[in-house]
Amino acid sequence: MSSEAQHKDGVITRREFLNAAAAGAAFLSLAAVFAGLFRFLKPKVAYEEATKFKIGTPDNFPVGVVTKFDEKGVFVFSSEDGLYAISCVCTHLGCMVALTDTGFACPCHGSMFNKNGKVVGGPAPRALPWLQISRSVDGSLEVDTAMEVSAGTLFKIA
Ligand code: FES
Repeated sequence: MSSEAQHKDGVITRREFLNAAAAGAAFLSLAAVFAGLFRFLKPKVAYEEATKFKIGTPDNFPVGVVTKFDEKGVFVFSSEDGLYAISCVCTHLGCMVALTDTGFACPCHGSMFNKNGKVVGGPAPRALPWLQISRSVDGSLEVDTAMEVSAGTLFKIA
């Protein structure tokens, strides 16, 4: 029986099998190389939310006004001496504190803070952080939730 006859019967020869296996291996090797190249084209960057956010111009903060930026977890207070920002994220387990007549209260486990954010009761391990306020290049004010300042630090509006 000739190889031609075997081919017609649907049976492949050893040579045909080895050729097909070599072509398949070559194809898989090239696919792996191109997959590796495409991975290099995509930058490995972890995108994080910006810690600075704009709060508007000084005109937005008349003396005596407290503005809460819920989505950022920050209170901005305006006093006669300047502006200051205090985080409203409880230092216990991260609930949002609420303003009270005497300072702040956490609804989750009852932590209490005075007007400067100092812990006066409950399980919170440390004071609410004061956050840096600065002026951006376009003249608006911005708060940086990653930059703590010491309690009592005011941003003077000149
Ligand atoms: S999260 Fe505020 S007291 Fe527990």
